[in-house]
Amino acid sequence: MHDHFYSELEFPVPAVRPLIACNMVSSLDGKVTADGNQPASLGSSFDRRTMGVIRSHFDAVLAGGNTVRLHPYYLGVPRGLEEFRKGKGLAHQPLTVLLTKSGNLDPLTPLFEQAPRPPVIITSASGAGSLPPEIKRQARVEILAEASPEAILSLLQEKYQVQRLLLEGGPSVNYQFMQAKCLDELFLTLHPGLIGKRTDLGLAAGDEVLDKAARISLVSVHQQVDELYLRYRIAW
Ligand SMILES: NC(=O)c1ccc[n+]([C@@H]2O[C@H](COP(=O)([O-])OP(=O)(O)OC[C@H]3O[C@@H](n4cnc5c(N)ncnc54)[C@H](OP(=O)(O)O)[C@@H]3O)[C@@H](O)[C@H]2O)c1
Repeated sequence: MHDHFYSELEFPVPAVRPLIACNMVSSLDGKVTADGNQPASLGSSFDRRTMGVIRSHFDAVLAGGNTVRLHPYYLGVPRGLEEFRKGKGLAHQPLTVLLTKSGNLDPLTPLFEQAPRPPVIITSASGAGSLPPEIKRQARVEILAEASPEAILSLLQEKYQVQRLLLEGGPSVNYQFMQAKCLDELFLTLHPGLIGKRTDLGLAAGDEVLDKAARISLVSVHQQVDELYLRYRIAW
């Protein structure tokens, strides 16, 4: 797997918690959603391929309830990257981790019906009570009374041996990890589109202005036709 500029990524693992990266695609006007909750991806087919390449370096990939209701697919890699992962000492597929307070997830979707590994669902006690029985059979359900990023990371590290975690949104999940200063790298695809609608969301969506990071440094830039692929490192 040497045909992509992200094929050979290496990440140092922090001593106290997993390394955390986030991968998102944004329009030129800074939006990561287009007309609210539309399922269509903003990026190109090369961007979707790049998502798989980035995932191939991580133990687990995490997304929030709104994102998985719109894109109900396992957050895995294409079959062709499974051997590459095994060669790096990783499981053949990353672990999919879903966050939901409500437990409002549909079992009749590829996410559950075609999952190569049982997804981990982190939820509240009432969310667990609302999960359909088919999902409870197919997934690993974890109840956290206070699902802060720190609590989520301890659970994933201690119980699932996650050392490198990739966040794939949406903006409200990204915000929580940024607010907790639990984000080490950002992969951002800048797609040449304009959305314009004021209610569409940017990379992070929360109630307060985030603390300023000590340093956000640009690690690499790649151009693919009219898209830019940016990699940033964040120090808090
Ligand atoms: N452009 C991109 O790269 C990209 C990537 C990903 C997503 N998106 C877009 O982002 C939009 C969705 O973003 P969003 O901010 O509205 O939602 P989101 O972050 O995907 O999901 C929010 C939901 O996640 C669950 N959740 C969040 N934090 C939690 C916690 N600490 N504990 C338990 N559950 C938690 C809750 O689910 P419940 O409601 O089930 O309780 C919450 O309502 C979609 O339009 C999607 O297409 C874009």
